[in-house]
Amino acid sequence: MHLFPAHPGRPLDIVLGIQWGDEGKGRVVDLLARDYDIVARFGGGDNAGHSIEVGDTKIALRIVPSGALVPHTRLFIGGGTVVSLEALAAEFDRVASAGVDLDRIAISDRAQIVFPYHVTLDRLGEKQRGSGAIGTTGRGIGPAYVDRVARMGVTFGDLARPEAVAQKIRAALLARAPVLAAADEVPREEEIIARTLELAGRIRPHVVDGVAYLHDAMRAGKRILAEGAQGTMLDVTYGSYPYVTSSATIAGGACTGLGVGPRAVGNVIGIAKAYCTRVGAGPFPSELHDEIGARIQELGHEFGVNTGRARRCGWFDAVATRYAAELNGLSHLILTKLDILTGFERVGVVTAYRRPDGSLAGMEAFGEAGITPEVTWYPGWSESIREVREISELPGNARHYIEEISRLVGVPLGLLSVGPERSAFATPFPAIYVP
Ligand code: IMP
Ligand code: MG
Repeated sequence: MHLFPAHPGRPLDIVLGIQWGDEGKGRVVDLLARDYDIVARFGGGDNAGHSIEVGDTKIALRIVPSGALVPHTRLFIGGGTVVSLEALAAEFDRVASAGVDLDRIAISDRAQIVFPYHVTLDRLGEKQRGSGAIGTTGRGIGPAYVDRVARMGVTFGDLARPEAVAQKIRAALLARAPVLAAADEVPREEEIIARTLELAGRIRPHVVDGVAYLHDAMRAGKRILAEGAQGTMLDVTYGSYPYVTSSATIAGGACTGLGVGPRAVGNVIGIAKAYCTRVGAGPFPSELHDEIGARIQELGHEFGVNTGRARRCGWFDAVATRYAAELNGLSHLILTKLDILTGFERVGVVTAYRRPDGSLAGMEAFGEAGITPEVTWYPGWSESIREVREISELPGNARHYIEEISRLVGVPLGLLSVGPERSAFATPFPAIYVP
């Protein structure tokens, strides 16, 4: 039985994070992937860090889709991504040593290459922003997207023409020279070209016509799972701008990032943690600056897979999540890490923002200076829930908490994660809430 049954004629399902990233997408995609033929990344690059644990094997993926440990799936890196050749080659080595057959991996000819000078530009940009720094992952993601929009990027398709690659790198470096001159180490053009062409030999066999690849598969009746990176609140347009990443992380980004029209989309599944975290700077109304926040951080191991940075922690923000549900047109909600909240006397959900004048507001006040969260409290539970496999078996208070979240967000709950193991998911039978 499929966890999320296919809609006839709609081969593409989307699964994405609806907070600030790190919602546990890797584990969820690993679980869902068994029902699909292709798992496809549609945006971002190695700023993402998706970790999967299967028995003793633990892998951290940055670019390769999180279906890696489900052997029958093909893994596709879509045209909307920006990918460092160096990082991709290193990830190929890591996943191959975990037993992944690299022949399963394909990358779209439309995807953009992240070069070392993008990393330099990312760091220089952050330095220049000073106290207004975004807290980027420092992987060159923003500058690589800038180059695409500025029409001076290099695509994976270009790797077939070494002369064109060299010429485009030279042009990009020339255009950026005034800024790059401020770097401690100015990028060496010929070195970058030589290394790019060297890595190209290894990557090129995986480069495909990304549009034909997916559309041929859909015509052949294959099911595709589009895997989001980062989260809705980091979307370049609709997130907490300018404290965002540089790509479209919402469901619409799956269509543009894969070259697939919206009529192909069936389920749109949003993943949220049972509380909230954020890495990097920017507004976070439900943030806890007290010992409760510190406790969630410790119990939830809230430290970045990618950069090792401590994540800011707070209560579940039902205002921002309801906004995310609208932006994505969610059909289902998946809640993760509910087990981390076990043992708290009471758990909070932010249901409104209070302005300095005392009035209550919704999403329109998000990011305004001086707002404070309006917290609705729910009684906690002390029983371990890690062995729960059906939501009906949850302690009453835990069940009430997730029912309230589903109601407040306005999306039915499709699945609940109650622990770190591959099997630690509870299914919602009977269905607990249908808006
Ligand atoms: P960038 O994507 O490296 O440009 O970083 C922009 C913002 O997005 C920063 O606040 C990062 O911390 C955040 N970010 C980027 N990727 C991830 C992710 O995979 N998880 C969580 N936050 C992320
Ligand atoms: Mg992550």
